Amino acid sequence: MDSLEDFAKTKLDQLRRASLHRQLAETTRLDGIWAERNGRRLLSFCCNDYLNLTQHPAIKEAATAALARYGVGSGASRLVTGNHPLFAELEGRLAQLKDTEAACVFGSGYLANMGIIPALMGPDDLIVIDELSHACLWAGARLSRAAVLPFRHADVAHAQALLAEHRGRHRHALIATDGVFSMDGDLAPLPELAELAQRFDAWLMSDDAHGTGVVGGGRGSTFGHGTAVDVPLQMGTLSKAIGAYGGYLCASAAVIDLIHNRARTFVYSTGLPPAIVAAAIAALDLIEGDPAFAARPLQKANAFTRRVGLPAAASPIVPLVIGDAEATLAASRLLEAEGFLVVPIRPPTVPAGTARLRFTFTAGHPDAEIERLAEIVRNRIRRGAP
Ligand SMILES: Cc1ncc(COP(=O)(O)O)c(C=O)c1O
Repeated sequence: MDSLEDFAKTKLDQLRRASLHRQLAETTRLDGIWAERNGRRLLSFCCNDYLNLTQHPAIKEAATAALARYGVGSGASRLVTGNHPLFAELEGRLAQLKDTEAACVFGSGYLANMGIIPALMGPDDLIVIDELSHACLWAGARLSRAAVLPFRHADVAHAQALLAEHRGRHRHALIATDGVFSMDGDLAPLPELAELAQRFDAWLMSDDAHGTGVVGGGRGSTFGHGTAVDVPLQMGTLSKAIGAYGGYLCASAAVIDLIHNRARTFVYSTGLPPAIVAAAIAALDLIEGDPAFAARPLQKANAFTRRVGLPAAASPIVPLVIGDAEATLAASRLLEAEGFLVVPIRPPTVPAGTARLRFTFTAGHPDAEIERLAEIVRNRIRRGAP
């Protein structure tokens, strides 16, 4: 086993030398915004719990009641053990939210993408994908064995050029993109991509993990562009603004039927615990019932960008690109000393040379703390940054 130990140690040394080694830091979330680390109470700006619903009393109550009634685990794949009625309820609600005929819930967002794309695409097909798409969109695309061609971030002309050159040689084509980019916070040019999809007979798929609940009146990035865009494959997660866990696809009834039959991460993986499904349903009640609540994280993000002098935010995610990984680590340590938890995001999560602080704003962040954070970022971090 020496070769295995040597391999691991050599790899770790390389990561440490490049300031890219990561370690789990024991952290207890105290509520929707505060966390405890190393005995200190810190205000967290690095959690995707945009609406603080992980801690909402109505959602905890829904989960607790379902837990008491139905138990903890779901026992097997939904096709094997039987489909709990809560799934149908949640899927109906998701389809309604996204204006599609049907929906399918998966064990996580990552599992969703790993199941959806290989179920639809194969070796004869073409996937044109935004280069900054989330790792699991990439993973699903590669797993499908289709030809995968990245286009420059949000560059519709580049996507068009790739389709013009390559579409003719492939049976089916998919355009894949994040709806809201997880490390940059910008929205994909969905209206223009939908138009391209139409023109080249391609299927448009968006990963709206960071849009659902907080963009487009809570309905997600498909609805965040003034008019509803035709996105036939709307994927997302239940783990961020919805505050629970799991992933989903909203699509036509035929596509969802096919997913039930062909998506391996659905067919061969245990269904979500009923308590989690109940929590997600309760979260949708809150999101759909109050669009002003869904808009709040973006308002908080823009209070920050205005004070720091950054471009206006399009979502609750605000990146501050520093570039150098070591300098980004130092900036994160400085903020922690001031009582703020803001993780440094380094390659390979973001491209080399673009290490950054990634601030995520939530409905419950106090305005005074946002102001204090902005002052520190403007005067003590930004001033020294390139
Ligand atoms: C854009 C995007 N897609 C998918 C996922 C995966 O979702 P999940 O955490 O539910 O696996 C994430 C987050 O982790 C994400 O940021």
